[in-house]
Order: sequence, then structure tokens, then C-alpha cells
Amino acid sequence: MIRFDGAGKRHPDGTIAVEGLDLDVPTGRITVLVGPSGCGKTTLLRMVNRMVEPTSGRVLLDGTDVAELEPAKLRRGIGYVIQQAGLFPHRRVIDNVATVPYLLGWDRKKARARAAELLELVGLAPETGKRYPFQLSGGQQQRVGVARALAADPPVLLMDEPFSAVDPVVRAGLQEELLRLQSELHKTVLFVTHDIEEAVRLGDQVVVLREHGRIAQLADPHTLLTAPADHGVAAFLGRDRGLRGLGLRPARDIAVRPLSAGLRYGGWELVLDDERRPIGWIDRDAATAALHPVAGFHPENDTLRTALDAAVLSPAAVAVALDGEGRATGTASREAVLTALGAAPGTTAHGADAKDEAGAKDGAAKDEAAAKDGAGRGR
Ligand SMILES: Nc1ncnc2c1ncn2[C@@H]1O[C@H](COP(=O)(O)OP(=O)(O)OP(=O)(O)O)[C@@H](O)[C@H]1O
Ligand SMILES: [Mg+2]
Repeated sequence: MIRFDGAGKRHPDGTIAVEGLDLDVPTGRITVLVGPSGCGKTTLLRMVNRMVEPTSGRVLLDGTDVAELEPAKLRRGIGYVIQQAGLFPHRRVIDNVATVPYLLGWDRKKARARAAELLELVGLAPETGKRYPFQLSGGQQQRVGVARALAADPPVLLMDEPFSAVDPVVRAGLQEELLRLQSELHKTVLFVTHDIEEAVRLGDQVVVLREHGRIAQLADPHTLLTAPADHGVAAFLGRDRGLRGLGLRPARDIAVRPLSAGLRYGGWELVLDDERRPIGWIDRDAATAALHPVAGFHPENDTLRTALDAAVLSPAAVAVALDGEGRATGTASREAVLTALGAAPGTTAHGADAKDEAGAKDGAAKDEAAAKDGAGRGR
């Protein structure tokens, strides 16, 4: 764990960058610092690896004041990733990644083998290693920056706006990659951004900072979005904060209903093949048996956003839940998706599990009724 214990930084010119900060950064989790420009985010990050020395208070790493540790040794246990990756321009990618192993005195072959392994880990082709940084896209350079920070397998990763110089699509890819890596590596990550969207997407906990590194709120993303501490934080989160959870929350939080008897949903019938894979929706009142496409979602992999999209696209106003083989396992109404969005994480689907069979059937009937009298007919 990293602990800021009354940590402060006053510059010789009198500027107060950070004042008396108390903050715990838990081991193996991602803590995101977010806040306006100049509020002290970079200063805080650099206090951890002693690139900035606090002028008051202390920073403890697993209980030891970092001031007592030799900087070079301290930094070997801390990966550091910055905006624009900060790669050495005259070194090949592979040697950039192997920087710390070389410093640690590994032989060249072993260091390069480790670097090649890391390039693969961050999703870069092996040939990338032979190139120079300028021959890479911005997104690829950021991946190299992450690989380099991970080279000596440090338990702590400091990331200072690592993805802010790339376009939104590449950025989303890098964020996903970081979450995938983290699910395998479980580093203690301190991540700085001024993008609230990025903060709630990545953070196990999010620290909203004000001037002088004062904490406006420290919370998990769901709590932050649904219960901002004050008007200032709410304004910082933006007007659509209620809907932001859609892309964050897993679809498994939806209370999925079993398939209704006869696969009837209002005036629509769900047609399945022999394997129970959806083929289409049929309008039972129409003269022709035209099939309308079925939009589905995977409760285990998708977010609420995908499920809501599927429910909105469906003529019967329900999204079809699919298992790994694409077989229909149940349905979710638009209301069920929105209920999951409004509830505390992990509560809705469990509530449904606890219900007995009759309750579930009852629910299916309700869904059918909703489809009948709601906007379900869609035409
Ligand atoms: N060497 C220095 N001397 C004087 N003031 C400094 C120095 N370095 C930083 N500051 C000031 O400390 C404050 C915090 O700076 P810091 O770089 O930590 O902000 P930040 O939150 O990372 O901002 P940004 O989002 O723009 O990167 C700012 O007001 C900055 O001007
Ligand atoms: Mg900064």
C-alpha cells in the first residue's frame, strides 16, 4: 500500500502544489487521481518515486517512508508511464523496453527475451521491437511505454495521463488493454487523468482533487456517479453522469427473465432454431411471416449499454440474453436494464435469483404485458 501521510509540497517560490494530503492507495487496485490542471496530480505521483520530495509529511510504501529508500533502488520497484510515452528516440523499441533489465545487469539476451514477451503482452507484434519510436503510431508508443514500465515486474505503477495524447478510439483500446493486464498482474496502480470518463472506467477508487491536492471526494465509480459529495463534484462529473454507468456496469447485473411460454412477447413471437439460437421476431398479426432481426447480449461479457441498445432495437421491446454458444437463455426489458443501472452494483440479478420459479414466471408475464401495451410494437 502507498500511504500519503500529511504529505505536502511547497516550492521555493512559495507556490503550494499540495497541502497536507492523507490518502491510502490500496495494493493490487487501480486508484485514479482526477482534477483540474494545476491541482497537484503530477506532484503527488512524483512524491511516490522521489522525483519530488515532500516539504511536509511523508509518503509510505508498505509502511516504509520512501525518504529512507535509495532513489535508484526505489524506482526499480516502480514503473512510471507518462504522456507521449517518453521513449528514447535513438533506441530501438526492444531496447527501450529492456532499459530497466539492462540497468539491473541482466545479460542482453535475457533482457531482450523479456522485452519481447512484454511487447506481446501489451498487444504489439514481435517485429515492432526492431523499429524506432518515431516509426510507431501514438497508440503503439503508449503501449511500448507501458511495456517498459512493466519490464522489471514492479509491484507499483505510476501513470501520469498516459493515454491523453491519442485519439478517443485508440484511447478506449488502451484503457481496455490496461484493464486486461491488471486482471492478470494485479499491480498497485496510481493513475492520473483529467478525464472523468477515463477515471470511472479504470478506477477501483477515484479521488477527485481540488486545488492544492485537497480531496473533494474519494469513492468507487458507482458511488461517485450516483452520490457526488457536493455541487462542485457533480459539476465536474458532467450532466450525463447518470447515464455514464451504462457503459461501466456489467450486463450480469440485469435481472434476466426466463423465456416466456410459447416465446410470445406481446404481438411478437421469438423464433429459435433447434439449438435454441434466435432466428428472428415474427409479427403474429402480419399477413407475411417476415423475420425481424434479433438483438441480443451476453450477460457475462457485455455492459448495460449493449443490453439497452438491444432492447431498444428489438420490435418486441426486449433484449435476448444469449449464452456462450449464442443460445437464448432469457430476456430483459428496457425497464429491467434501467433498473440495473439505478441499483447498487450486483444487487438486482441476485434479487432475481432469490425469487422462486413462480415469481420468475410472474415476471415473464409482466414483461409480456409491458411489451403489449408499451412502445413495443415499434411501428
Ligand atoms: N518547480 C515548480 N516551482 C513552482 N511551482 C511549481 C513547480 N512545479 C509545479 N508547480 C506548481 O504546482 C502546482 C501543481 O502542479 P502539478 O504539475 O502537480 O499539477 P497537475 O495537477 O499535474 O496539473 P496538469 O493537469 O496540468 O498536469 C501548479 O500550480 C504548478 O504551477
Ligand atoms: Mg500533471
